[in-house]
Amino acid sequence: MKKIALVTGGTRGIGAGISKALRENGYLVAANYHKDHEAAEKYHNETGIPVFSWDVSDYESCQKGIEKVYEELGGTVDVLVNNARITRDSMLHKMDPAAWNIVISTNLTSVFNMCRLIVPTMRDKKFGRIINISSVNGVKGQVGQANYSAAKAGTLGFTKALAQESANKGITVNAIAPGYISTDMTEVIRDDIKEKIIAGIPMGKFGTVEEIANTVLFLANDKSSFVTGITLNVNGGQYF
Ligand code: CAA
Repeated sequence: MKKIALVTGGTRGIGAGISKALRENGYLVAANYHKDHEAAEKYHNETGIPVFSWDVSDYESCQKGIEKVYEELGGTVDVLVNNARITRDSMLHKMDPAAWNIVISTNLTSVFNMCRLIVPTMRDKKFGRIINISSVNGVKGQVGQANYSAAKAGTLGFTKALAQESANKGITVNAIAPGYISTDMTEVIRDDIKEKIIAGIPMGKFGTVEEIANTVLFLANDKSSFVTGITLNVNGGQYF
């Protein structure tokens, strides 16, 4: 029987690449998204992957969304990829409290919401793969991203704690820390700043969505059963 994979923020950017790669590798995939119905519909038409709209920052919204996934896909989730994220970049001394709160709730509280709702079913079936998409900027911090860096660093602590809780339950919990990847999110960075960032990447370029998706496939695999609690840096050679 096919394993069921759920990818949050799974219809655009890195998440779209992850959903697609999982489907191509034999998983039954559900892709969550929030507001961009047009992009989600286009993605669904192109890939055939079922798409589900809910707000990952809201616990009840996650509960209802996950129930719909279970109904439509006919089973509970085996592989959970917490990928949904937003940015609200600004220097801290100019940062609006709303920009702090929405980034923490969308990028970090969402990971709690999704895991809190799905881990019990994984414990029951004694199998699970949880893959949290963090960021190079959660590992090293980034100018203009106190909110995002805090959420992404928080995700790493969360991953290590849940990995220990789950280690004897057949559930692995790992994080991937992508470096700068070519997507809509990085497209909007000012050119002068982009140049500075690229100068700090040993490979001298942004990575691709496929390079992150491939790492997800490794961690999702049944045979990666002894790998848990790690952060896989996929960033073109940056070292801190
Ligand atoms: N390293 C060191 N210093 C930097 C810097 C960098 N990468 N970027 C900016 N600075 C410095 C500037 O030189 C400037 O210094 P002074 O005040 O001494 O002149 C100061 O920080 C302020 O910078 P700006 O002039 O750019 O300030 P701003 O208010 O116009 O813009 C900003 C602030 C919008 C946050 C802008 O700096 C920016 O877009 N930075 C990039 C943030 C970033 O990397 N975002 C990643 C988005 S992609 C993503 O998040 C995915 C992922 O996981 C990687």
